[in-house]
Amino acid sequence: MTTNSPYLSISMVFLALLTSGSLIVVSHAFSIKEATIRDIHLAFKLNKLTSRQLVELYLGEIHKLNPKLRGVIEVNPDALKLAEKADQEREAGAARSKLGLHGIPILLKDNIATKDKMNTTAGSFALVGSVVPRDAFVVTKLIKAGAIILGKASMSEWAGIRAPTGWCARTGQGKNPYLLSAEPCGSSSGSAISVAANMAAVSLGTETDGSILCPSSYNSVVGIKPTVGLTSRDGVIPLSPRQDTVGPICRTVADAVYVLDAIAGFDQNDKATREASKYIPRGGYKQFLNPDGLKRKRLGIVRHRFSNTANSTQVTEAFEHHIQTLRQQGAVVVDNLKITNLDDIVERDAGGEELALEAEFKLALNTYLKGLITSRVRSLADVIAFNNKFSKLEKTKEYGQSFLESALTTNGIDHEVKSALLNMTKLSRDGFEKLMKEKKLDAVVTPAVYISTILAIGGFPGITVPAGYGSNGFPFGIYFGGLKGSEPKLIEIAYGFEQATKIRKPPSFKNDSV
Ligand SMILES: *[C@@H]1O[C@H](CO)[C@@H](O)[C@H](O)[C@H]1NC(C)=O
Ligand SMILES: *[C@@H]1O[C@H](CO)[C@@H](O)[C@H](O)[C@H]1NC(C)=O
Ligand SMILES: *[C@@H]1O[C@H](CO)[C@@H](O)[C@H](O)[C@H]1NC(C)=O
Repeated sequence: MTTNSPYLSISMVFLALLTSGSLIVVSHAFSIKEATIRDIHLAFKLNKLTSRQLVELYLGEIHKLNPKLRGVIEVNPDALKLAEKADQEREAGAARSKLGLHGIPILLKDNIATKDKMNTTAGSFALVGSVVPRDAFVVTKLIKAGAIILGKASMSEWAGIRAPTGWCARTGQGKNPYLLSAEPCGSSSGSAISVAANMAAVSLGTETDGSILCPSSYNSVVGIKPTVGLTSRDGVIPLSPRQDTVGPICRTVADAVYVLDAIAGFDQNDKATREASKYIPRGGYKQFLNPDGLKRKRLGIVRHRFSNTANSTQVTEAFEHHIQTLRQQGAVVVDNLKITNLDDIVERDAGGEELALEAEFKLALNTYLKGLITSRVRSLADVIAFNNKFSKLEKTKEYGQSFLESALTTNGIDHEVKSALLNMTKLSRDGFEKLMKEKKLDAVVTPAVYISTILAIGGFPGITVPAGYGSNGFPFGIYFGGLKGSEPKLIEIAYGFEQATKIRKPPSFKNDSV
């Protein structure tokens, strides 16, 4: 793979007949390199591009880049057919062709079910060939918004609890397109890798603790981790219904917001959406794509712990510079804040997060597997037995299954798990929530992904935006976190920051660290 990978583009020649009778030739080109939803829709409108051509361009990039990057686990065999249907709708001027995501090719993390020709496996061979009862609710919403399901993105197997960052049995190790020797982070690794490398227009990931925010920042893209329940988890291979959330991973804040608008909403099959859907503002989230979004926002800077966890000269210097930018854009910066119990959260596993996740995973996974139409595994015990039998075939011996095995020994939400749940509620209330309320903050800003656990245990939303590159080209993000339902403010802040900085650049596929 070379640096400056040549992106395919389509040139179409338009002929215009002037009144004088002479012909002039006007050449227009559409390039998928960094193309946004707006760019694509404009190209459709100007007849510079068809949906079929667009899908062909992305399939071409996948064909070329994916053998190395391994961000895509399957492509949709029907993608071109769906694109042709979108073209017909547009040509006929059908109402569907005005939809927010019409003709936009999207990749879904491999734990998001589709009832089509594709598999839904969380990266594991154990679920290959299984049949899901229906599309995940978010997939139904995407299709209703006009999107084309381009394929499934690879991921850290079972959302990261079996394997390290970005590895799954089915695709092997996903690669960071900025620095091939570096981690892409997980568990929504493939979603972030693929949009970073322009193998898809937009993507969906899921987060239980860090799985959208971390890979997004490592691959220099925007990730939105919504308030738990804002997006339905129905049809998503679960880890913890208390913490799981589905959210967009895209190249720009605006694209992520258009995708969020499409997927957020009440679903009778996910109880948590009843409460959280009340947070969705009339008119959706795109109204908060306000270039002056930072004006008068109260932003809390938490340096304690976070500055040494994000310890490189570039990160530290960039963060200081960004704080200046936030101020210049009109934000009220409240510096040097402390989350009083952060040490307990970071050092003492948030009072038992892992234990709670193990118990919740066993219950939720068993329910998910029992709901499949056909499957060779019907329980966590079956999955472990499958892995033991097939780990040779997978060549994955180095990746044990200690979390899975430990989850198997749990007995529901027992006394100990309840104590862990109580601990997390208390840590959240007495730490982050208290700070946010006492200092009247709109968001906390950090240079390190460790904020993910704070957001995870409280069900809070967060957004990461590209914030710079280290001397070896490795990307890093800035993180904004807020209280439940604070997406409108977080979007204004993230968009304001992005528009003032415009840091993201496409990857150069560097082979080595410098
Ligand atoms: C789903 O898995 C089956 C079994 O390995 C495979 O034959 C099929 O091609 C997969 N589907 C896609 C779309 O890759
Ligand atoms: C962070 O960087 C400083 C300065 O280079 C160094 O002294 C310190 O040990 C580092 N901290 C960590 C946690 O790596
Ligand atoms: C909950 O917190 C208490 C006090 O810090 C601790 O002793 C206990 O072990 C925690 N519970 C779990 C399940 O970790």
